[in-house]
Amino acid sequence: MASAPLVDSRGLSSPVDGDWNPEDVSFPEQFAWGAATAAYQIEGGWDADGKGPSVWDTFTHQGGDRVFKNQTGDVACGSYTLWEEDLKCIKQLGLTHYRFSLSWSRLLPDGTTGFINQKGNCSFKIESCAALIQGVDYYDKVIDSLLANGVTPVVTLYHFDLPQCFEDQGGWRSDTTVKAFDSYAQFCFKTFGDRVKFWITINEPYVVAEFGYEKGIMAPGVKEPGVGAYLSAHNLIRAHATAWHSYDTLFRAKQAGFVSIALNSDWAEPLNPADPADQAAAKRHVAFCLDWFATPIFLDGDYPAIMKSQVSVMSKRQGCPASRLPEFTEEEKMMIKGTADFFSLNYYTTRRIKHQDNTHSQPSVTADKEAEQVTDPSWPVAAGSSWLAVVPWGLRRLLKYIKDTYNHPLIYITENGFSLSDPAPLDDTQRWEYFRLTLQEILKAIYIDRVQLKGYFVWSLLDNFEWTAGYSSRFGLFHVDFNHSALPRVPYKSATEYARVIANNGLTASHG
Ligand code: GAL
Repeated sequence: MASAPLVDSRGLSSPVDGDWNPEDVSFPEQFAWGAATAAYQIEGGWDADGKGPSVWDTFTHQGGDRVFKNQTGDVACGSYTLWEEDLKCIKQLGLTHYRFSLSWSRLLPDGTTGFINQKGNCSFKIESCAALIQGVDYYDKVIDSLLANGVTPVVTLYHFDLPQCFEDQGGWRSDTTVKAFDSYAQFCFKTFGDRVKFWITINEPYVVAEFGYEKGIMAPGVKEPGVGAYLSAHNLIRAHATAWHSYDTLFRAKQAGFVSIALNSDWAEPLNPADPADQAAAKRHVAFCLDWFATPIFLDGDYPAIMKSQVSVMSKRQGCPASRLPEFTEEEKMMIKGTADFFSLNYYTTRRIKHQDNTHSQPSVTADKEAEQVTDPSWPVAAGSSWLAVVPWGLRRLLKYIKDTYNHPLIYITENGFSLSDPAPLDDTQRWEYFRLTLQEILKAIYIDRVQLKGYFVWSLLDNFEWTAGYSSRFGLFHVDFNHSALPRVPYKSATEYARVIANNGLTASHG
């Protein structure tokens, strides 16, 4: 077979050594092939069978044009009642792993273990409780049928949908939520941990903090620039670490599973690679996203030094009595350090970064970072998401960075994908090309950079409720017709191609 070009015409691929061709090699044995979803984005049944409200129910029901056409996840893909249809998609792809999240308030309607939403437990007046599906039973069914079909469940405890009752008490800015999360996590380990061996405590704490409590563009919509994100991130880290310890001390010996936290990050390149100021700004861009969480959890229990000094200096300039970045106690640092059994990475895009002098700015995380994002006009942009510049080689660099910075961990890419815009063509040839180039970069990371990469999960199995973009942005391997009451799932070309890669454990048939 002819060698792959060193760099493709649009500069999307990274170079390889010699004439090594990623199309010629297999993925490692036991490589985890997955797809991912999240409860609020697919389940619907927002108040079915005793489910309590989450912050996303509240946020979408309030309207106000914060979500495309004021759409909601009330029905979404209907997965709460259409699980068998999802299972068909999973089987059609030949996935070895499926990542999904539990809805906290579906399992525990008021957020606490005081009332468990399970068959036989009826909190409300309805003739026959036995007719209901109810939270625990629903997830039992999902987990059991995955296992019966040889698919490993990877379960996220928290994917943005905080029970509203906790938001009413301060949400992630409050210690109450940290404690409640631990009880919820323990409940899930106890209930499902005999069968679930891969746990992700929290999905993308950066997004929860930055978009939920700083910019207020995602639920719960809190706008506290320069303060809210740091405080909520602080508690998200404490909540994760506490839940990890609960697993470690109470469940690990018997259940023998693995627990981590899904961290998202862009890769960052200096706008002018020769300019030391831009180089430093690019490092700060990663520090204020990935390292913010990864340094305490994987290294030393504390925030990255650059982040501490940056926020402290900026706070002082603004006349704050102390740094706006909270501090962990020594005891907390010991508790947080080393609380991940693998590295769970969500990657979508890369940015070019330019130093920005923010001497006179108002407090905000963005200003603290002093790094301006510049989109490289030569990079294509995913049709359904203006923020998603397609840069497959950025993933390889990010993986190498994680290997070098975080002591060569086992890594799973727990999300990666490209959106189409609605109406989306089933023949998504160009999108598959992005996936193919990304998988090539992954092979280079594994075989050239020697990254311990153990699996890859496409975001997403299905077109779904894409947060503020509603149903206009389509990330699915399967198209969902949201105008049809049966919500039919139909494979895009990418689904067929992905199934082929999985069956071959490589990009071409020679690996079958
Ligand atoms: C991630 C998030 C997913 C999905 C994806 C695509 O940040 O975890 O829920 O929406 O982005 O935008």
